[in-house]
Amino acid sequence: MQWDQRFAARTAQMKRSTIREILKLTSQPDVISFAGGLPAPEFFPVERVKQAADLALSERGQAALQYSTTEGMPELRELIAERLSNEHIQVDPDQVLITTGSQQALDLIGRVLIDNGDFVIAENPTYLGMIMAWKPYGLRYTPVPTDAEGMDVDALEPLLRQNPKLLYVVPNFQNPGGNTLSLERRERLVALLARYQVPLIEDNPYGELCYSGEPQPSILSLDAKNLGINTPDGHVIYAGTLSKVLAPGLRIGFLVAAAAVIDKLVQAKQSADLHTSTLDQFIAYEVARDGFLDQHVQHLREVYRERRDIMLAAMERYFPPEVTWSKPDGGLFLLVTAPSQVDTTTLLVEAVKRKVAFVPGADFHIDGSGQNTFRLNFSNAGPQMIEAGIQRLGQLLHDAVAQPVHG
Ligand SMILES: Cc1ncc(COP(=O)(O)O)c(C=O)c1O
Repeated sequence: MQWDQRFAARTAQMKRSTIREILKLTSQPDVISFAGGLPAPEFFPVERVKQAADLALSERGQAALQYSTTEGMPELRELIAERLSNEHIQVDPDQVLITTGSQQALDLIGRVLIDNGDFVIAENPTYLGMIMAWKPYGLRYTPVPTDAEGMDVDALEPLLRQNPKLLYVVPNFQNPGGNTLSLERRERLVALLARYQVPLIEDNPYGELCYSGEPQPSILSLDAKNLGINTPDGHVIYAGTLSKVLAPGLRIGFLVAAAAVIDKLVQAKQSADLHTSTLDQFIAYEVARDGFLDQHVQHLREVYRERRDIMLAAMERYFPPEVTWSKPDGGLFLLVTAPSQVDTTTLLVEAVKRKVAFVPGADFHIDGSGQNTFRLNFSNAGPQMIEAGIQRLGQLLHDAVAQPVHG
């Protein structure tokens, strides 16, 4: 059977990344990988998850193994609604949809909102998983430049006048840039949403992983405040996840939006997977309740802060002065910029030979730039590995910077 002639036209947009293929080599135990977006496995609360699974099965086993509602487990929706509510916004559990990771949340948004020919505005660089999730819908991405304070809101306004379908933002400790949208820009942004009537997707997996600086209010809550309401009934669809604060293997994400949007997303999710794993939702709820999640996040903040600081200090020591990098206040990533003649995809091949890995930045950029950038993850490797890996990378960068410039 000639299967490749049978695939739908939209699959032409789906590609296995060559970088993923190179990175497969990094699963060997002697490679220090700063490539994945992986939390530190040694801090997964394995015992607590074990107890939660036991409790879920012994006390509610029949329900935990049964089909359940598409919207999600009521207690878990309540817990998430409570965590997101503050003096500016009251989230009703009915406005929370549990998803199979926030990656599914993005996929559902694509199904429900994006038509062929639409254009979507996103930070440049932006989250690769979003680019890949929406590409099959035949959209065009329009980049907005970013700096240390996040998306450049001045550059955004003329784009909003051109009737985009939506705006996608990772406002806190962005993946891959590590930058955070400042409060002043958030406030100007919500005013622009109201003026131009553009929906915004706030993708916030990292907001709670804050190590320095002031945590910023969500765009969801600022938009509500700007509209004089205190419910999520404005322009923002908010996506969150327990992947980075608890465990990605549970695949628990969530969406918060106006009731009409949730209703449509529920219809899309029904045909995608009926519902997120009932057992995983029961476990996540049992783990997270009674303040455990808050204590756990507090612990993660301490250990990830230390790892971030070790990486930044090692970069100061080992990287050549021609190289610059972002200094994130939280999250899992920072972005490195080498001089323009350094191609980081070529550099990765050399790096893997020296048993260290990163993700080249070009694929995160929607304007075709970024060949001289790469992303480093600082959560997954322990302190000694970070030091050793950055030293190896420093040597490579010194060699690359010293190469003569061609052309
Ligand atoms: C910005 C962003 N959004 C969404 C996701 C998806 O996470 P998950 O599906 O595990 O919730 C990630 C994961 O790295 C991410 O960085």
